[in-house]
Amino acid sequence: MKITYFGHASLGIQVNDVNILVDPFISANPKASAIDINTLKADYILITHAHQDHILDVEAIAKRTGAVLVSNFEITTHYEKMGIEVHPMNHGGQWDFEFGTVKYVNAIHTSSFPDGSYGGQPGGFVIEGEHKNIYIAGDTALTFDMKLIPMQTKLDLAILPIGDNFTMGIDDAILASDFVSCDKVLGYHYDTFGYIEIDHEVAKRKFFEKNKDLMLLEIGDFIEL
Ligand code: NI
Ligand code: MN
Repeated sequence: MKITYFGHASLGIQVNDVNILVDPFISANPKASAIDINTLKADYILITHAHQDHILDVEAIAKRTGAVLVSNFEITTHYEKMGIEVHPMNHGGQWDFEFGTVKYVNAIHTSSFPDGSYGGQPGGFVIEGEHKNIYIAGDTALTFDMKLIPMQTKLDLAILPIGDNFTMGIDDAILASDFVSCDKVLGYHYDTFGYIEIDHEVAKRKFFEKNKDLMLLEIGDFIEL
């Protein structure tokens, strides 16, 4: 499993030959100007919630690639009307895709579309694929619901928001790492705009002091599990 960071909360996940994009917000992110959305491969697009900083490039990429969009029922209904192929899910539901199993799990946040219309309830994803399991938290507060995840899935990586203000910050993300029983964390949803700027060294040190590993990738860089 290869995980590429496209800035903010945007990820590329490759499992064998299948390309999955998560929450593409790239074309309006000045920090991600080196990434051209017209070159991104996508067989599936996973969306955690309907906020602009998670869906901006969904329509363009889905229409170009023919990717199947996976999200909550309200978000998939919105995109299905545009002629995009979708797979609707809802909280607690799990589905076996060609690349592995996806479960749509709870997140504490909000989920309106940019025009204010209802975007369902926000979520995160647990992906079990190719003998590697990851948790993509989405935008969320720290919540006890995270403790449910390791009761069923042994995670190899937790992808957690760390920018604070709109989501968990560093200290809560460290507790979240405990809750999901995974000490290997990829931080995301930080530095994109003023409210969520963080001190990278302080963040890494705080994780290190709890015997945890916080990875912060340069935009365009990847890790392999
Ligand atoms: Ni959000
Ligand atoms: Mn967000």
